[in-house]
Amino acid sequence: MNLFDVYSRYQVEPISGSGCWITDKSGERYLDLYGGHAVISIGHSHPRFVEAITEQVGKLAFYSNSIVNPLGEELAKKLGEISGYDGYALFLCNSGAEAIENALKLASFKTQGKRVIAFDRAFHGRTSLAVAATNNQKIGAPINRTHHVTHLPLNDIGRFEEAVGDGTNFAAVLLEGVQGIGGIYEPKTEFLQSVAEICRKNNIPLILDEIQSGYGRTGKFFAHQHHGIRPDLITVAKGMGNGFPIGGVLISPEFTPEYGMLGTTFGGSHLACAAGLAVIDVLNDEKLLENSAEVGATLIDKLTNVPGIQNVRGRGLMIGIDFEEDSSSLRRRLLFDHHIFVGSATDKRTLRLLPPLSLSMEEAETFLDRLQHELQATNR
Ligand SMILES: Cc1ncc(COP(=O)(O)O)c(C=O)c1O
Repeated sequence: MNLFDVYSRYQVEPISGSGCWITDKSGERYLDLYGGHAVISIGHSHPRFVEAITEQVGKLAFYSNSIVNPLGEELAKKLGEISGYDGYALFLCNSGAEAIENALKLASFKTQGKRVIAFDRAFHGRTSLAVAATNNQKIGAPINRTHHVTHLPLNDIGRFEEAVGDGTNFAAVLLEGVQGIGGIYEPKTEFLQSVAEICRKNNIPLILDEIQSGYGRTGKFFAHQHHGIRPDLITVAKGMGNGFPIGGVLISPEFTPEYGMLGTTFGGSHLACAAGLAVIDVLNDEKLLENSAEVGATLIDKLTNVPGIQNVRGRGLMIGIDFEEDSSSLRRRLLFDHHIFVGSATDKRTLRLLPPLSLSMEEAETFLDRLQHELQATNR
């Protein structure tokens, strides 16, 4: 049997990683400024992460959600503390798309409504409702198409108000803390605050998708915390497990749980919780949110002055760099000639940086040097 061939792959075969570096099978080291789609938060194979998982797998990897699991309770408590959402409850699942499905389902259970407002350039995942809310026709199959979702331009409050109208039949409003795959576009503070207020007035649950922008990536635990709003539901995944598959929904006390309303076999397993707990401990102990804010701000500032770059957007270690032309070949050259992983975006002129939150200033300088060399060489 072969793998079902749905991924375009670079011919690189990493076999180990440490911090912001990965090593391929020939011993070549690469600086990872992409974190495997924003997943690596505390660094590749962080010793405390490895130790926590190793110890837990030796004790008990998994049992179903029909028993008491103090690790899940501890994870909810610590996540509440680090995020400032102490009073919220946590539903654990296995991926970002699953977190979105559950958040939308919860919202619809509560309101009994069906309509969803999402935004142009949004990405929320590839499963049923998540892909319907994603603004990319190419990745939705006919069976995923539903007339429940309306996509609106980000930061256009007039269009938003008009679309909400009298607020009837809504399940939710869904948006990313910072649009990731769309190219690092941030909702403006005024827009977000007005959206939150209109949602509150009309009893429409506001869901913030922090799957890519959360867990300290922008320098605060959640990107929306830069804008002074408190959503009803918040989805997390990616950085939550530093590579161990785990996702979750943070749920406001306005939602009342009922047995059986949500569920998953694997979600919240002992092993996943051990991974999730190690991530939070390291974020705290190594002050990685502060590091993300500081190194990110300096990197953004320096990138702005690099000749050949058109525009730089972002916060913390979630950065979009625009070039005049398609940057796919630059990305290849950075990988194969300079041994640096960077990401792409829907618009091929944009490169995305999503490194581990432990990126040092020295590592950022290494990237800047190699990027400038490459840009100078191509412009010569
Ligand atoms: C903002 C956002 N939401 C949802 C998802 C889907 O997450 P997953 O691939 O874990 O299903 C992604 C993945 O890239 C994402 O960036």
